[in-house]
Amino acid sequence: MRILGIIGGTGIDQLDGLEIVELHEQETPFGAPSRAVQEGRLGRQRLFFLQRHGSPRAIPPHLVNYRANLWALQSLGVTDVVAINAVGGISADMRPGRLVIPDQIVDYTWGREHTFDTGADDTLMHIDFTYPYDRGLREALLETALHEQIPHRGDGVHGVMQGPRLETAAEIRRMASDGCDLVGMTGMPEAALARELGIAYASVCMVVNAAAGLDDKPLTLDMMRETLQREAAVVGRLLGALAAC
Ligand code: HPA
Repeated sequence: MRILGIIGGTGIDQLDGLEIVELHEQETPFGAPSRAVQEGRLGRQRLFFLQRHGSPRAIPPHLVNYRANLWALQSLGVTDVVAINAVGGISADMRPGRLVIPDQIVDYTWGREHTFDTGADDTLMHIDFTYPYDRGLREALLETALHEQIPHRGDGVHGVMQGPRLETAAEIRRMASDGCDLVGMTGMPEAALARELGIAYASVCMVVNAAAGLDDKPLTLDMMRETLQREAAVVGRLLGALAAC
């Protein structure tokens, strides 16, 4: 049986309609997760929700304890994780307001705890990461979006930068020539760690701005927040419908 976990990104501090039944304060072998995991019901479905950036103070992307977050969710029985990521749009049709269910990743992050393989035993974690997102979970998201008539793109390459600063125009040109459609800061190592644990993992990206150098307007957090607020409601509807299937 699928037990769904949602990792909320910037702008998704709670899940609309989630009736919280329990808060799980947890410690893991890798430290504490970003926040207590909320166990709740969305309709008749039981699910678990974790805000990646914690609360009330936001943990920046490079300091999120991705290992603890995934470990905590798995230890509560979560089998499938849908991650929400706010991103910048690089390719022409990835305009602000777009919802994207990406199918590939390019990882530019560095210095993060990116594996559960500590070298302490003989188990080498050479996971197959050819297709970084789980096929079945992606299909479920795509079918749900279609069914709910939620406009979306069903593919795209998610380039993950280290942050917390935004990119230079030249970095975005390089990412475009690397084949990236989207730029974010939190997609990795989360996706790889989920694969190491055998958790089915997929992402829903909300494009909140045109990436650096692609628009005349300066990039401001206020501008991103405005788009985020609008998109968060749509993402909430998508997740609610996914949980109900
Ligand atoms: N770059 C990196 N991360 C982001 C962006 C961006 O333009 N927008 C939202 N998250």
